[in-house]
Amino acid sequence: MTQRIRKVVFPVAGLGTRFLPATKASPKEMLPVVDKPLIQYAVEEAVAAGADTLIFVTGRTKRAIEDHFDKAYELEVELQAKNKLRMLELVRSTVPEGINCIYIRQGEALGLGHAVLCAQPIVGNDPFGVILADDLIDGQGEKVMSQMVREFDDHQCSLLGVERVPKEETGSYGVVSAQEFADGVSAVDAIVEKPDPAEAPSNLAVVGRYVFTAGIFDKLRETKPDPKGEIQLTDAISSLLADERVLAHEFKGKRYDCGSKLGYLKATVEYGLQHPELGAAFAEYLESRQG
Ligand code: UTP
Repeated sequence: MTQRIRKVVFPVAGLGTRFLPATKASPKEMLPVVDKPLIQYAVEEAVAAGADTLIFVTGRTKRAIEDHFDKAYELEVELQAKNKLRMLELVRSTVPEGINCIYIRQGEALGLGHAVLCAQPIVGNDPFGVILADDLIDGQGEKVMSQMVREFDDHQCSLLGVERVPKEETGSYGVVSAQEFADGVSAVDAIVEKPDPAEAPSNLAVVGRYVFTAGIFDKLRETKPDPKGEIQLTDAISSLLADERVLAHEFKGKRYDCGSKLGYLKATVEYGLQHPELGAAFAEYLESRQG
């Protein structure tokens, strides 16, 4: 029977230490790029891909995310009274009708693998997507989760979103060894976490987009914590490879690593320039600075 991706997991329980003090009381996924928080871009990507159940794995500073996707009664009443109807529509449409948001708590930040495992009671045996909101990707035509759901429809197996990175940067990513068999789609035969450039099997780096079969949960449960006490998703993917086919999908689009300050600033500039209301004035401003 053909399976479809209906559930997407958003791990949002990391400590976000690279953005302190901004992330002291608010998760980094609430940082805005122009006028929308990172998590809203991620939710829009999941919904566009056909997801109807959004599972947020939250941590200490969870309130802001729940509040963002909740109905904001008082604000709505005020906007209505002031006849600010466009703003009212923006506030109401953070989650479209018929989409179910579920929040699970990751008691301690025990790693990305552990955060994904926390979603198992809701995901059950279904295949599911994972989006790391701090990897903001401008899909330029088709959002990345939609690209990956299409691949899943064809291949019915786990998929990793990958990008070619400069060889000297492999030490910041999970890197796969993979054999390309169709345009941008490769069969993964190994995955290594943060390899030195000299030892990296390729320059295909795993980024914050995944589709998994439920088989990943058994592997996550068996994965031992690393020396820092974290359960690494990469280790579980590596064991999954022994039992199941896993594909790498080289996505089409431009990625901004918004977990880093420089990546976040670049995203702000690019999304600012593309913004329908601000773009022209912002471009003019940037040009005026070069003089
Ligand atoms: P990062 O590796 O970017 O870690 O997590 P971090 O804690 O968010 O940020 P820094 O490095 O301290 O600045 C990648 C993704 O995994 C989630 C994060 O929220 C982020 O989306 N994550 C990480 C969890 O949900 N739980 C964890 O225990 C760790």
